[in-house]
Amino acid sequence: MSQNDPSNPKPSWHGRFTQAPAAATQQFVESLTVDNRLWKHDIVGSLAHAHMLLKVGLISQEDFLAIQQGMKSIAEDIEQGRFIFDLAKEDIHMAIEAALIERTGEPGKRLHTARSRNDQVALDLRLWLREAIDEAMIPAVRRLQAAFVHMAERQGLAIMPGYTHMQRAQPILAGAYCLSFVEGLDRDASRFEDLRRRINFSPLGSGALAGSTLPIDRDAVAGSLMFDGITGNSIDAVSDRDPVVEYAFACSLLAARLSRLAEDWVLFCSQEFAFLKIDDAYCTGSSMMPQKRNPDLLELIRGRTGRAYGSLMALMTIVKGLPTGYNRDLQEDKYHLFTAHDSTLLCLQVAAEVVDHSAFNEQRMLGACQVGFLDATALAEYLVEKKVPFREAHQVVGNLVAAAEKQNCELRELPLAQLKAASAAIDHDVFDWLGAQNVVNRYVSKGSAGVKSFKEALENWQARLAR
Ligand code: ARG
Repeated sequence: MSQNDPSNPKPSWHGRFTQAPAAATQQFVESLTVDNRLWKHDIVGSLAHAHMLLKVGLISQEDFLAIQQGMKSIAEDIEQGRFIFDLAKEDIHMAIEAALIERTGEPGKRLHTARSRNDQVALDLRLWLREAIDEAMIPAVRRLQAAFVHMAERQGLAIMPGYTHMQRAQPILAGAYCLSFVEGLDRDASRFEDLRRRINFSPLGSGALAGSTLPIDRDAVAGSLMFDGITGNSIDAVSDRDPVVEYAFACSLLAARLSRLAEDWVLFCSQEFAFLKIDDAYCTGSSMMPQKRNPDLLELIRGRTGRAYGSLMALMTIVKGLPTGYNRDLQEDKYHLFTAHDSTLLCLQVAAEVVDHSAFNEQRMLGACQVGFLDATALAEYLVEKKVPFREAHQVVGNLVAAAEKQNCELRELPLAQLKAASAAIDHDVFDWLGAQNVVNRYVSKGSAGVKSFKEALENWQARLAR
């Protein structure tokens, strides 16, 4: 029975063994159930490797064509769902190689020249990450940014209370609030872009850990796979999982941002706030209480942060204390990488739909700005304009707030005489500073939450996202 006979479960590394692997061994070491997702990247990497072997004369033209043809048929079979993922083949690398040998014979047996699964999996991961960043994560981040920009276009000039310590603080424009997420999401996108730049080097040719005695051309492989170059040290290249850990971190920070959005909006659509209404299609009901309308999608976005953080923590734990070189522990990386990716991507996509289908209750938000002295800081700044030192102004306004609270009114409802008695610097123009609308019109500092900066920022983002 040949080693390539599919009915023979012996693995390709079986040469020095006298016993076949136990069922427990086979079942426990296999990663095919998780890493089959890498099949396309594995084939692309193998073809680039084979082409390089041809160019340096390690395989013939016929070998290369047979490998190319074999890989094409394997890819088709996988795409059509015809390929049998035999767990006895351990992982996607050996499953594809075994199928290639089955289909091509000797040319297939030459493919693994000057290559180990250790550099192969490092390559596949980088190829997968690059694609995940370019084709999934960044477009999904941009899509959510666009959803917030559109919300800002619809209702950006509405005024809402801004909070610190979850206490009403100062009035802000709803548009500035929306753009606060656009801004943060932009850092998320740039984190993925940074990491893409850092990982875009080919580890292939690092072999098991020491490289190869054969005259391979690593730069050629890197070039044909559109890497910016090759990794510099073969030992580091097979030991390194920084790309995976960094990716999980970028997902985690993004998940944290989505959980902040979810938390805000769960509160905003409570009856206590009633700042926001999410369309029925994006709410759920209760099995018992007929009146309920629950923001479960937001709660799940908040809850799924746990998957991203859990994956990051798992990955950090996996790499902790590993000795230099490849260790099988590293195989565990993919489960957590894919979990972090899938969960974060889905949350991004769902968040964008929820944003598209939500509306602020502008009356309700404005009403909340009328109560709670949200214009107190603006009043202190009015006094500063009248040359009162800020610390003194703070004190004066604090006293006025205490008085108004006692009189059960807002600052703008205090009689001018009482205001003047608190500070001689106060004049009748003070009423152009008090009240939420006056305040948001008066924010002049760059990047502030007022009308002028919001309009500028909105135009800026509209132009940037159109590109
Ligand atoms: N399935 C393995 C992984 O994902 C591939 C590398 C296995 N290398 C080895 N020497 N056993 O890490």
